Amino acid sequence: MPGLEPGAGQAPTPLDALIAATDLGGADREREALEGALAAAAAAVGVRAALLLRVDPRSGRLAPAAAAGDPALVAALARGDDAGVADEVRAAGGEVARRRPADGLHVLGIPVRGSGRTVGVCVLAGPSAPDPDPVRMHAARFAATRCGWAIERGHLADSLERAMAQILETDERMLGRIGLDIHDGPTQQLSVALLEVQLLEAELGDAEAAGEVLPDKLRPALGRIYEVLGGALHEMRELIGHLRPAQFESRTLPEILTDAVRAFEARGDAEATFSVEGDALGEEGITLSQRITFYRILQEALTNAHRHGHARSISVRLRFAREGTTLEVADDGEGFDVDAVAGREGTPRPRFGVVGMRDRANLLGGTIAITSAAGEGTLVAVYLPRWRPDDPAAFPGLDA
Ligand SMILES: Nc1ncnc2c1ncn2[C@@H]1O[C@H](COP(=O)(O)OP(=O)(O)OP(=O)(O)O)[C@@H](O)[C@H]1O
Ligand SMILES: [Mg+2]
Repeated sequence: MPGLEPGAGQAPTPLDALIAATDLGGADREREALEGALAAAAAAVGVRAALLLRVDPRSGRLAPAAAAGDPALVAALARGDDAGVADEVRAAGGEVARRRPADGLHVLGIPVRGSGRTVGVCVLAGPSAPDPDPVRMHAARFAATRCGWAIERGHLADSLERAMAQILETDERMLGRIGLDIHDGPTQQLSVALLEVQLLEAELGDAEAAGEVLPDKLRPALGRIYEVLGGALHEMRELIGHLRPAQFESRTLPEILTDAVRAFEARGDAEATFSVEGDALGEEGITLSQRITFYRILQEALTNAHRHGHARSISVRLRFAREGTTLEVADDGEGFDVDAVAGREGTPRPRFGVVGMRDRANLLGGTIAITSAAGEGTLVAVYLPRWRPDDPAAFPGLDA
């Protein structure tokens, strides 16, 4: 915002200040929106620094969330050197202006409101008093209102994530229940049936040894039944493994995905490698919904690589970046015509895999790209945007 750096050179005209304070364009991210509004507020009334103290929804206390202007002054304000203005503003719900006796610094606190309550305080400070011109003051107040909107937007985003996580967790619990039911019901019955066939074969063996003549087709038919039952039991066990929830709450994304890769390798279908890049950013901004989503998508991609691509080797890469997280699953299998599969109708049975992966990614504002061609393997790339990458709670340098 050229010319609107607080304390930098000439102050903007009242009209410019108002235009800057009401400019809502461009800032998608909460941090950018807050910083833009604070810079406009400080420039409007000609002070050197602006600090936003936000009411922490958990503790109810005021905590620094964003700032603009002179770093030393910002740091002092963040330490609480604002002559108690912020607390008074919050208690009274109105503006408070004061001059600090120690150094004569002028401090002005403006309440920041959201949904009818005070969600924060905007503290403006400088060596000279804020310009009382009504248009300038109006501009500063409007900038504070913008801070309120940005905070509200953050709260809404939080609620949305909580709702999403609840839905996905309920989903996971249901899958776990289905897994248990399959384990206790059909899997047990299949095991019993297999045992019966084995016993029957042993009895037939005894009968033959005793000189009895058996119909020719009996043994091959029993062999086939045994094979079919064995195959079904194997699939059931695989399914149960898939349905088991993965302790998403207490583990990091790499840990959860490592589990999925190991479980896949343990089945001996193909070899799989797993690597993580950019982990310096850690888990910040990776939500519970994202962990569940990445895990389920990875499972499906691995299953498809083996079942359809007959892949021998699969490489799984997780890449953390500031903006978002990417998961790539590359297999060396037979590949397929992605467009043809997408447009295929009237298939013998409904297919949920690719559609489900896409739905899961889209639900969290992410994308999925599948690249494949016959004989060239398949690459599944899923991208989920980082959840509020600039959470004000993590504002650097203000917790000093
Ligand atoms: N990695 C892959 N390699 C080769 N073909 C694939 C791969 N992934 C998907 N396909 C093709 O895309 C089709 C659709 O996959 P999708 O996962 O949607 O369904 P499915 O695996 O057949 O059934 P479901 O996942 O519902 O059990 C598959 O039937 C297969 O032809
Ligand atoms: Mg599938």
